[in-house]
Amino acid sequence: MSSDPSQPPARTLASTVIRNIGQLITVAQQPVEGATGPLQIIFHAALAVHNGRIVWIGPDNDAEPLFSRDTEGQNITIIDAQGAVITPGFVDSHTHLVFAGNRAEEFHLRRSGVSYSELLKQGRGILSTVQATRSASTDTLLELAQSRLNSLRSYGTTTVEVKTGYGLDTITEEACLRIINTLAAIEENALNQQTQIRVVPTFLGAHTLPPEYKERRKEYVDLVVEKMLPSFVGLARFCDVFCENGAFSLDESRHILTRAKELGYQLKVHADQLSPSGGARLAAELGATSADHLDYASDADLDAMREAGVVATLLPGCSYTLRTPYPQARRYLDHGLSVALATDFNPGTSYCENMQTMLELAMSAMGMTLEEALPAATINGALALALQNEIGSLEVGKRCELALWSIQDYQEIGYRFGINQVQSVFIQK
Ligand code: NIG
Ligand code: FE
Repeated sequence: MSSDPSQPPARTLASTVIRNIGQLITVAQQPVEGATGPLQIIFHAALAVHNGRIVWIGPDNDAEPLFSRDTEGQNITIIDAQGAVITPGFVDSHTHLVFAGNRAEEFHLRRSGVSYSELLKQGRGILSTVQATRSASTDTLLELAQSRLNSLRSYGTTTVEVKTGYGLDTITEEACLRIINTLAAIEENALNQQTQIRVVPTFLGAHTLPPEYKERRKEYVDLVVEKMLPSFVGLARFCDVFCENGAFSLDESRHILTRAKELGYQLKVHADQLSPSGGARLAAELGATSADHLDYASDADLDAMREAGVVATLLPGCSYTLRTPYPQARRYLDHGLSVALATDFNPGTSYCENMQTMLELAMSAMGMTLEEALPAATINGALALALQNEIGSLEVGKRCELALWSIQDYQEIGYRFGINQVQSVFIQK
């Protein structure tokens, strides 16, 4: 930019400026002036925000004349980051946060050789949690979900998708959706505006067949399609289906998702997790926003997903818990897919709300580099929620939703493991 040195620099309107950032890991999708490397890092940086949007980022030295506190009477809050490393907040695009009880006993049974599918067949697994959830009060479910949300936040997550799927009857599914919406509203109205998490609700009525419909599969699918989906419009942004042997067949899944799409839901699929179920191909066919798990998706399925622009969401917490082979990220990346990482927080296959752990597993067991894993946990998570224009990276025009780390160098992410390296999240409205 050429400027007349005799004139003071043009000022940018900002309500808040974060200064003295040791390393600003922007994960920007466009080259940023002064930033280097694939993660577009600015060393000794500053970031300015106005009306909740980032209006300027750059070297801290350049910020001085633009945002000094005592000129023109402009009311600017200056925050000293004290040399912290800052990244975009994590976008956890796949969780099952609303349920009661836990399945610790099953976790240990699986250690002695009983498989996840076997437990589901025995009426345990997801169905144990359905029973506990149906018996719990709305207040209890909300309290449990809130405490999990607080935990997620403490590890650096600023946006979380939350699914239903442990109600499996109209009343409990609706109650769970309302709890998710209440969570979102509580966050929006929280006194501390700087830590308000964004909550994205998903309807997963087709998680598994509820016991009372054991001999009446078609009736349950009809209930989801004809009653639940139409009455939950406005309560959920996404509709998801567990497309799997033992859950919902390819045809049933297609039927449910097709109706959901007609009603204006965006789509997600639990696809090819335990066997090649056709879920990834279905996600491509219907233009789903993401297909998740994908352990058994074929090369042709992955090609179809790329052509349709479906995000591949990988969930290492499941491989950890079920002791199954980790999906090898290189395979998905080499197919040209956008790969997202999420916790899949749930009581059966991934009882972990910590996105830092997902990064650690991605780098230790899935062959991802930090330069691949960090975007997977931020901007590609945003892509998996169709929010990539709002969040997921720190760029001019985007929302200011970030994580402050208690490390000296971003390369410590994934290196030191098993502890919380995030100090706090910071959200500026
Ligand atoms: O994403 N696969 C289906 N749903 C969850 C597991 C839910 C459960 O076991 O309670 C998953 O892995
Ligand atoms: Fe899941």
